[in-house]
Amino acid sequence: MKESISISLKNTGGFVPYEEVIALAQQSVRHLESLNAGTGTGNDFLGWLSLPDDIIQQFSKLEKTAMHLRSISDTTVVIGIGGSYLGSKAVIEALTHTFSRELKPKHHEILFAGHNICEDYMADLLEILGSKNYSIIVISKSGTTTEPALAFRILKDHLEKKVGKPAAADRIIAITDSSRGALRTLAETNGYETFVIPDNIGGRYSVLTPVGLLPIAVSGLDIKTLVKGAKSMEEMIRKNKIASTNPALMYAAARNLILQTGRSVEILVGFTPKLHYFSEWWKQLFGESEGKEGKGIFPASVDFTTDLHSLGQYIQEGKRILFETMISVKNPKKKLTIPLEKDDSDQLNYLAGKRLSEVNHNAETGTVLAHNDGNVPVININVPELDEYYLGQLIYFFELSCAVSGYILDVNPFDQPGVEAYKKNMFALLNKTGFEEAGKKLKERLK
Ligand code: PA5
Repeated sequence: MKESISISLKNTGGFVPYEEVIALAQQSVRHLESLNAGTGTGNDFLGWLSLPDDIIQQFSKLEKTAMHLRSISDTTVVIGIGGSYLGSKAVIEALTHTFSRELKPKHHEILFAGHNICEDYMADLLEILGSKNYSIIVISKSGTTTEPALAFRILKDHLEKKVGKPAAADRIIAITDSSRGALRTLAETNGYETFVIPDNIGGRYSVLTPVGLLPIAVSGLDIKTLVKGAKSMEEMIRKNKIASTNPALMYAAARNLILQTGRSVEILVGFTPKLHYFSEWWKQLFGESEGKEGKGIFPASVDFTTDLHSLGQYIQEGKRILFETMISVKNPKKKLTIPLEKDDSDQLNYLAGKRLSEVNHNAETGTVLAHNDGNVPVININVPELDEYYLGQLIYFFELSCAVSGYILDVNPFDQPGVEAYKKNMFALLNKTGFEEAGKKLKERLK
């Protein structure tokens, strides 16, 4: 049997007593119960809770479509923003070869678009795609989000000109709502293959739906094992009412108690660049779920040891508003030992024969001790290794923790009303029909 990811609070003890964490975690069982019973705030968005079982029936269609895209193209462009791209990006970056573009034979390449409105990014992408044999997966639950809709308009036009309209239609997969939105209409009009984002699953909780799983499968990763890992975590935490053995309850309780000590910024720390986009996914999950009504912990992230040479200074000695959640990966996939050098001119022979990971682990331990000394509590999340199974566990663990934590804060962890504000202004400034009055007012303000 595989091990499991685990949480350790030994480096938060000097800041919040363990007994208090246990007490709040035990009180939070009621939040777990209301999630399972569907009686809490935002209860029409709880489909992700049972996804590890529910998604199984879509495996064969997902794998068939992934095989199809891999057989007709060497590159897939995934169009989406927020929850419609971060989950797949996180898993693909964590689990594929760091320099996969340079590998021979070539890997099926996954590129991303629609997560910004940058003209140079899109123009650069089009330049690259000129010489690629590519397909498109376009993802938008609402089917109306401006960034992916714009990217899709441009890329669809490019692909249709390159391969012709019928062949382009065979290379475009749309993932969207079952009946609503412009993307659904476009897909039906043009005969694209489609997958549905269930109504009861919000974008940031959708990585285990086709939203995340199709791009991950196209990249060549094993989606069954990813979901198996999530399922094992669901079994461990979803109905476990013994707080001390439920890492999601313990994590949610610990971070809220640390918040009460005045530390309102949580930094997710990885000691491998492979987790960079996992942190981006995590930031969206917690930021959008908790940051409302003037409440919430601000989620930030760093990649160590890289950022120890930049933000490390602030974390050690800056304003004391920080705590860290450190993801420690025990075993690297590959093995590399440090060579001995005869004349030791760089004075590194004391490390000769050691694995690079041993140095990294010691950097990690040294960092925890230093940051504790600098008044920074550290929650440790231990991960045996980076593979599909443990990433599946991490995903479900953080999703459930986030929902419980949102309930502890007394906010709805499943809505995101604040993201509309910039959109309204952008539409008004661009003279979109229906926004004329708002446009006039904004333009007055800008004079
Ligand atoms: O979590 C969310 O719901 C959001 O971040 C959405 O994923 C994001 O805004 C994209 O929305 P859509 O998939 O409707 O284009």
